[in-house]
Amino acid sequence: MSVELSIIVIGLLSFILSGVRVDMAIGVYNVIDYGAAGDGKTDNTKAFEAAWSAACTVEGRTTIVIPEGAYLLGPTIFKGPCKGIMVMEVKGQLLASTHLEAYKENWLDFQYINGLAISGGGRFNGQGASAWPYNQCKKILNCKPLPKTLVFSFVTNATISSISFIDSKFFHIHIFQSRNITFDSIRISAPGDSPNTDGIHIADSTNIQVANSVIGTGDDCISIGSGCTNLTIFNVLCGPGHGFSVGSLGKNAGEKDVIGLKVMKCNLTGTTNGLRIKTWQSSASRLKATDFLFEHVIMNNVYNPIIIDQNYCPNANCPGKDPSLVKITDIKYRNITGTFASLVAYKLLCSVAAPCEGVELSDISLEYSGKDNQAKNATSICVNVYGSSNGNVKPDPCI
Ligand SMILES: *[C@@H]1O[C@H](CO)[C@@H](O)[C@H](O)[C@H]1NC(C)=O
Ligand SMILES: *[C@@H]1O[C@H](CO)[C@@H](O)[C@H](O)[C@H]1NC(C)=O
Ligand SMILES: *[C@@H]1O[C@H](CO)[C@@H](O)[C@H](O)[C@H]1NC(C)=O
Ligand SMILES: *[C@@H]1O[C@H](CO)[C@@H](O)[C@H](O)[C@H]1NC(C)=O
Ligand SMILES: *[C@@H]1O[C@H](CO)[C@@H](O)[C@H](O)[C@H]1NC(C)=O
Ligand SMILES: *[C@@H]1O[C@H](CO)[C@@H](O)[C@H](O)[C@H]1NC(C)=O
Repeated sequence: MSVELSIIVIGLLSFILSGVRVDMAIGVYNVIDYGAAGDGKTDNTKAFEAAWSAACTVEGRTTIVIPEGAYLLGPTIFKGPCKGIMVMEVKGQLLASTHLEAYKENWLDFQYINGLAISGGGRFNGQGASAWPYNQCKKILNCKPLPKTLVFSFVTNATISSISFIDSKFFHIHIFQSRNITFDSIRISAPGDSPNTDGIHIADSTNIQVANSVIGTGDDCISIGSGCTNLTIFNVLCGPGHGFSVGSLGKNAGEKDVIGLKVMKCNLTGTTNGLRIKTWQSSASRLKATDFLFEHVIMNNVYNPIIIDQNYCPNANCPGKDPSLVKITDIKYRNITGTFASLVAYKLLCSVAAPCEGVELSDISLEYSGKDNQAKNATSICVNVYGSSNGNVKPDPCI
C-alpha cells in the first residue's frame, strides 16, 4: 500500500469511527422507562430525577422525553453541569404538587447548565389556585414567596419554545445569573387577580430574548430586575396583567445597572401599566438604567401606558422618604399607538436627586378610552425630566 493510500484509509477509518461515536451519543431518555406514570396521581419526582441524572452524564445531544399524559411532580432540581446538550421534549402536562409543605423554594429548578432546549408543545401547570390564598406578600414586606414554576440559575445557551405555562403559584419563570436564553412561542396564563403570578422575571442576566409569545397573568407580564443587560422583547401580546416593567430598582444595597432593553412590536391589552420603569424612594443603592427602546407598541385600553415612577414606595414603607438615586437616561418611546384609560397618558415622575435625561417621545398617538369628559384635556405629567419629543405626539407631551 502506498503512503498516500494508507493515509486515505486511515482517514476513512477514523471518519467512520467518529461517526459511530456520535451516533452512540444520541440518547433518548423516556421518563416512562424510569418509572414515571402519566396518570395525574403518581408522584413522578424520583422518575424525573433519575432520567435527568442518566441523561446528564452523556456527551452530545441528549433528549429526555415526557410523553402525553399528566405527570404529577413535586419540587425538583435539574442540576448540571451536564456532559452534553440537554433537550427536554415535553409532550404531556406536568402538574405541580399542591402540598405546599413539600416545597423548600421552587417547583422546577434548572441550575448550572450550558446548552438546554425545552420544547414539545406540552404544558407546565403550577396548580396555583389552592396556594394563592396563602400569599402573604401584600401584608408582609419581606414575605416568603410561594413556589415559582420554572427557575433558571446559572444557565447559558438555552431555548424554550412551544411550551405553555398556567396558574403558577408565584412567578411562572424566573431567570437569574444566566446568559443567552431565548423564549419563542410560549404562552403563559393565570387569572388577572392571582397574586404575584408574573410571567417572566429576569435578574442579573444578559442576552435574554422573549419573542412571539402570549402572556396574561395577575402581575407583570415581564419584569426586569437589577443587573440585566441586552434584553429583547419582540412580538409579545400582554394582558391581563401589569404590563412590561423595569424594576423596582434601588431597594437593596449592591444592585447593578440595567443597560440595553428593546421592547418592539408588542400589544398590551387591558393592562394596568404599559411600559413602566419604577425605582424606590430612599434607595439603598445608586445605579443607572439606560439605553431602552420601546418601539411599535400598541396599547389597548391600558391604564398607564407610559410611566416612569421614581417615587415607588408600596405600603408607604420608605424610611426617610429621600429621593431615588437611580439615574435613568436614554429612554426612547417611538411609534406608540392605541388607547389608554387613566387621566394621564404619560406620567414621567423622575427623581430630584437624579433627573431623567435623554427621554425621547416620537410619533405617539394615544386616545383616551374612558368615559370621563375631564380626561379629554388631561394629558401628561413630567417632573425632573429632560429630553425631546419629535414628530406627532398626541396628547401633547410635557417635555
Ligand atoms: C445562544 O444559544 C443558542 C442555543 O440556544 C446557540 O445556538 C447560540 O450559538 C448561542 N449564542 C451565543 C452567542 O452564545
Ligand atoms: C454558549 O455557546 C457559545 C456558542 O456555541 C459558546 O461559544 C459559549 O462558550 C457557550 N457558553 C458557555 C458558558 O459555555
Ligand atoms: C444581544 O442579545 C441578542 C440575543 O438576544 C444577540 O443576538 C446579540 O448578539 C446580543 N448583543 C450583544 C452586544 O451581546
Ligand atoms: C391587540 O391584541 C388584542 C387582544 O388579542 C386584539 O383584540 C387586538 O386586535 C390587537 N391589536 C392589534 C392592533 O393587533
Ligand atoms: C407603528 O407600529 C405599528 C404596530 O406595531 C406598525 O404596524 C406600524 O407599521 C408602525 N409604523 C411605523 C411608521 O413604523
Ligand atoms: C380639564 O378641564 C376642566 C374644565 O375646563 C378643568 O376643570 C380641569 O381642571 C381640566 N383638567 C386638567 C387636568 O387640566
